[in-house]
Parts: sequence; structure tokens; C-alpha cells
Amino acid sequence: MAVQDFWLEKLRRDNLLKHPDFDTPALLLDLDLFVENAQLAFSALKRINSKTKIRPHCKSIKSPQLARILLNMGANGICVAKLSEAEVMMNGGIDDILVTTEIAGPTKLTKLMILAARNPELKIVVDNHISVATLSDWCAKAGLKHQLKILIDINVGQNRCGIEPDCDKVLALTETILASGHLQLIGLQGYEGHIQQAKPEQMQEHCLKAMQLLTSLKLQIESALKSREFVFQTITTGGTGSFLTCATNQYITEVQPGSFCTMDSSYKSSNGTQFANALAVATTVISTFADRIVVDAGLKSLSTDMGNAKAIEPYQGYHYSPAGDEHGILSKSEAPSKPDTPSELDEVKSLDSGLKPGDLVILLPSHCDTTLNLHDHLFLVGDEETLKTQFEPIITARTGSAVPEHLRIDRKLKIEGRGKSQ
Ligand SMILES: Cc1ncc(COP(=O)(O)O)c(C=O)c1O
Repeated sequence: MAVQDFWLEKLRRDNLLKHPDFDTPALLLDLDLFVENAQLAFSALKRINSKTKIRPHCKSIKSPQLARILLNMGANGICVAKLSEAEVMMNGGIDDILVTTEIAGPTKLTKLMILAARNPELKIVVDNHISVATLSDWCAKAGLKHQLKILIDINVGQNRCGIEPDCDKVLALTETILASGHLQLIGLQGYEGHIQQAKPEQMQEHCLKAMQLLTSLKLQIESALKSREFVFQTITTGGTGSFLTCATNQYITEVQPGSFCTMDSSYKSSNGTQFANALAVATTVISTFADRIVVDAGLKSLSTDMGNAKAIEPYQGYHYSPAGDEHGILSKSEAPSKPDTPSELDEVKSLDSGLKPGDLVILLPSHCDTTLNLHDHLFLVGDEETLKTQFEPIITARTGSAVPEHLRIDRKLKIEGRGKSQ
């Protein structure tokens, strides 16, 4: 059976095609593959006998229900990139959350104080003295009853955020945090984002160097603060491409891969990862011509920051490219006909694909995080029992919109048949 037919079969079996709210372009998640990907990650760590735990980065799934599956499988809490994501996860009953992006500005600080007051397990990162002083002030003014948990973010080579990995500088920041009565320093964060999709040997070489940098800082600072018996509880780093290599360093307590459970075509083609593409976008053919097939998924439903989405078997010979906000083109050549040279308008009889207006085509997003962010809903296919007991068939994809009360995970949801909640 061609890969596309697997997806269509599941859509049919789970009655999504008949669901009144199903429409294309539709973001699909195969729960079976999602769980298999997670199992693969957990068992790979076990296989190398690593004590390192997984704190999955949930910026790519954004759903507390999906995060809960990972927690139930043994995840050591979760990461999010933004406070809005942390809020949705907390509303979904999850407390052990690390926000991996630095927080600044009064709106975010206000939100942080509200969330931290609700959740002492909320953790954030800092990389400079100004932010430490500001956070300390805000915690004091907000009358936070506990110390806010903080990790120092270290630049291990990505050159994004993160303090320079210089022992004196990191030690000075450590001292400033320790001197604040409002902050509790619990760890160091590194993230070697620049090598996630590098070729395996190159990734390994750079990753091991980055881990050496991160963990030698830990050891040097702990040694400098020996008289105060200070130790870092957490050393967290890693992504889908590097987490297994990170975990070979004994001092890395947790890794934070994110894309592994949904996957995308750029990861897949860059380093031949074993994780399966669990995320897809269903599109509908809207027109066919001699040289191209036009589908209803364009820039507003498939991100292009990591290249174009990919067609799958039996259409793997076709190239997808966006043709505007709401249009996409499948053609045999990388570049479809130029707009000023209209091809023969040989409608309906298209190439040799057999596709005609109204047919569904499944595409694999090139980048899971930025594609998911374009969709309000995620259509779930897969394991019937999980779908029946834990999920509506359609869940909120973007955390911009709050999780509806009836979908909160702390409430036991019982669904009769497809999509009918009691
Ligand atoms: C700080 C941090 N950690 C972990 C991840 C997860 O990376 P990946 O999706 O490549 O697994 C990201 C992704 O952007 C990140 O920014």
C-alpha cells in the first residue's frame, strides 16, 4: 500500500473524512507514529545505558494532551519556548515546565509572575545581569512566595541567546543569582541548535565539543563554590539531531528534543533519522493542467523556512511548491511554468497522476514547528482506544487559543463515538 493510502485509510477509518468540521488544508497527526517515535527515543537512551532523562520540547506539539502522552511514557517534565505555551500546558494540568527562551519586557514579566505564583515548578532561563536584577525586582514586587527557579543559558555555539561560555563570566552571573533572595539557581542550559541537521560525523564532533564546554563550566563553577556546597541539579541541552550524543556525557541530566515525535521532511532528509513522519497536511486538488496539479495548500498552511513540503508515495516523483497563500502546485519539475508563459490549458487530464479536482493529496511539512503554528486545529488519526478515551478527533493546534474547558486533561474526558463528548 502506498504511504498516502495509509493516511487516507486512517482518515476514513477514524471517520474524519465524514466529520462536519473536516476541511482541507488540514493538519493531521498520526498518534500511532507519534507514540512509536517517543518509544524509539526513550529506548535509544536506554540502549546506550544513559541516565539522562528526556524533557521533550513541546514547542512543536503545543498541546497538553500530547505532552501528557510523553509524560506518561517517562518524560522528565517538558520544555516550552514561550510563556503562552507554558500557560496552556499549566491549564492542561502540567506543572514541571522549563521555558527555554529568555524573558524580557513588562507584559511578559507580568505574565511570568502570574504563572509562577500558580506554579512553583515553573523554570526559566537567563543569560545576563540586567535580566537577573529585573527578575529579582519583579519577584519582590509581586510578593512571590517561593524562589523562582532559574537556569543559566550558555552559548555553546549557536550564537543565539546564552552567555559566553567563559568561566569568570558565568561565575559572576551565578554569584549575582545566588545573592538574590528571590531566585533559585538550579541549572545550566545549552542548546546546540546549529548542528541539529548536520551530517552525523560533523554533528557528533561539534556536539561532543559543546557538551565538553557546558559540563566543564558546571564542574569549574561547582569547584569555585565548593565551600558553599553549591551544585547544579540540572544540565539540560540537546535536540532531535543531537540528543543521543549529548546523553553520552555523564553530566548531562536531561535532553530536550522536540521534533522527534512529529518529525518533518527537512529533518528526515538531512540526517536520515529513524523517526517517522507523524505529521502531515491533507490538501485537495482544485485544478489540473498538462504540466501541473493545483492543490489548496499554500503559504498559509505549509511553512517554507526549511524548504518546501514533500509529496509522498505514489506521488513522490512530484515536487510541491507554494503558488501563493492558498494555492500549491505539484509538478514534475522543481520549477513549475513561469506565470508569463501559460502552459496549455489541458484541463482535467493531468500529467500521469490520475489526480482530478476533489482528490486528496497528503504532503509532509518541511518544518513541523512553523507549520503547526499556521493551523488552528490538529486532526488526529490512529489508535482507537487512545482516541476514544483521551481525545476529541480535532484538537486545538495553536496555543494562541486557550484549551477549551472540556478538553482540559485534568478532567476525565469520555467520548461516545467520534467527536461526541459527554
Ligand atoms: C532551546 C531548544 N531546545 C530544544 C529544541 C528542540 O529541538 P528539535 O526540534 O530540533 O528537537 C529547540 C528547538 O528549537 C530549542 O530552541
